[in-house]
Amino acid sequence: MSDNPASMERMSGALRTTLRHLLKPQLKALVAVNSPMQCMMKEVCAQCLCQHHDPETKLPAGIVFSCFNQHQPLFAVDFGNLKARQGQNSVQEKVSNLWLNYLLDDKARHLHEPSRIIAAEDAVD
Ligand code: FES
Repeated sequence: MSDNPASMERMSGALRTTLRHLLKPQLKALVAVNSPMQCMMKEVCAQCLCQHHDPETKLPAGIVFSCFNQHQPLFAVDFGNLKARQGQNSVQEKVSNLWLNYLLDDKARHLHEPSRIIAAEDAVD
């Protein structure tokens, strides 16, 4: 299933409502949760925490380390929390992309610049 929280949430809702009559009552659906991660060393940095809730009451039911357990019960994942967690890195990702684009553009520009190539060759001699 898609790793987009909104898509997963829609699928979860559909399976519990409009599609419910087509499914076995004991259906167990898993979802691959793509929480932000840092160490990926299982319970070290806590960057990957994912909140679960009770599917019926929607009350908090626990916290899971996603790097330790990426496939989680679809109906238990708190997708609002997952969306918020993913959004935490958005500024850093944008800055990193800008910096990478700057570096790649700058490098590409200098590759076709004859004076730079000569200067670099002179530097080697
Ligand atoms: S990513 Fe560090 S504990 Fe999961």
